[in-house]
Amino acid sequence: MNLFRTKSIATLQAMAKDSGLKKTLTAFDLVCLGIGCVIGTGIFVLTGVAAAEYAGPGVALSFLLSGIVCAFVALAYAEFASMIPSAGSAYTYTYTALGEMIAFICGWNLILEYMLATSAVASGWGGYMTGLFKAGGIHLPEALTLVPAEGGIMNLPAMLILVFLAFLLVRGTHESATVTRLLVFVKLAAIFIFLVLAVPNIEPTNWEPFLPFGWEGVSAGAAIAFFAFIGFDAVATSAEECKNPGRDLPIGIVGSLAVCTVLYVAVSATLTGVVPYTLLDNAEPVAFALRHIGYNIGSALVAVGAIAGITSVLLVLLYGMARIVFAMSRDGMLPPGICKVHSKYKTPYLVTIIGATIAGIGAGFFPIGLIAEMVNIGTLAAFFIASIGVLVLRFTQPNIERKFRCPALIIVAPLAALSCAYLMYNLPYDTWVRFGIWTALGFATYFLYSYRHSKLGKGE
Ligand code: ALA
Repeated sequence: MNLFRTKSIATLQAMAKDSGLKKTLTAFDLVCLGIGCVIGTGIFVLTGVAAAEYAGPGVALSFLLSGIVCAFVALAYAEFASMIPSAGSAYTYTYTALGEMIAFICGWNLILEYMLATSAVASGWGGYMTGLFKAGGIHLPEALTLVPAEGGIMNLPAMLILVFLAFLLVRGTHESATVTRLLVFVKLAAIFIFLVLAVPNIEPTNWEPFLPFGWEGVSAGAAIAFFAFIGFDAVATSAEECKNPGRDLPIGIVGSLAVCTVLYVAVSATLTGVVPYTLLDNAEPVAFALRHIGYNIGSALVAVGAIAGITSVLLVLLYGMARIVFAMSRDGMLPPGICKVHSKYKTPYLVTIIGATIAGIGAGFFPIGLIAEMVNIGTLAAFFIASIGVLVLRFTQPNIERKFRCPALIIVAPLAALSCAYLMYNLPYDTWVRFGIWTALGFATYFLYSYRHSKLGKGE
């Protein structure tokens, strides 16, 4: 058995060129795509919990810390993406660097990341929407807005938004990019409205004590804040639809992460500056803070912006998931039928529909808490593998053209891997058990199906 067979970069580059996917995305689209996927539930919902229960006003440092961890990973991703522009992102990179079996496990975890994140974020979307209806005097029946564990039948709004977005994605990447751009604009506007209204109302006494839960609280807050950064890697999955991937992917990955980190630190610091952190433990802390200082209209605008923001996260997550499965099935790792490209729209439609359906079942019938924890571990595992891969490739294939070279890779890549391992180590035991089961399923799939159907294995 050859579990560590690797793909040649030249083959991948050729494959990416003739993938059948339309090449329409620009550097600006990619930055939008990154911001589109990153800013969502994390900042609009989780900041409140992170501040109230874990970090206090030090939550801004939690965001900074998580941002730095992601920056190490983003630099490694950027080097890979500039060298191997493939829809499979870390899965494909690992295929060239560490061999097929580890690549499969990396891809398997990316699917976990995107699929469960889609479910979790769609649940959040459903909650926000139901709240907005309620504010307008329309009470949606609980049976259709709560999952069975909460006493309902299903979370219908969460399922409906996924159906709508899957339809949009099948219609075309360009159309989806246009919608993403619009949604990104609306959510950035919401954040700016918040900052402009709130900053003059900061009461420095709210920042005292700055670290009520000590540094431990800041690290625990960072583990939560990590969820807020998930998604910058989705930029890499659009590689085969970019006009100039070598140059634009690193701009998209690093650029969107930088913008998001600055905004996160600013929003979380402002939030704890205008409201005592103890009051922030609610489902809409950003809108709540504006109401608290008397801006009701501003608060409503921010709530609408948050919904737009969360919608764009869903759009890009679904998009990214489809691209990873597409790349894996193209390699024979998953059944070939599912990666068919639509004859008219040139999008991988079948996998988009299957992915949205599974995520919809998750969002419609299962509680969000369980799902969200799994997202972080899957993502961190994929990031860990990719960070090691990029370093290995520098030594094994030093002469391949890298349009972007990660500065001080010899330090950055190990730091990225170590910090991911550290965050994983801090996740609860139960999450590790579920992760173990998922990984075992991955190995079973690999040995029972993928190894035998691998195109590389068959010499194709
Ligand atoms: N980073 C994304 C969010 O915060 C998943 O919603």
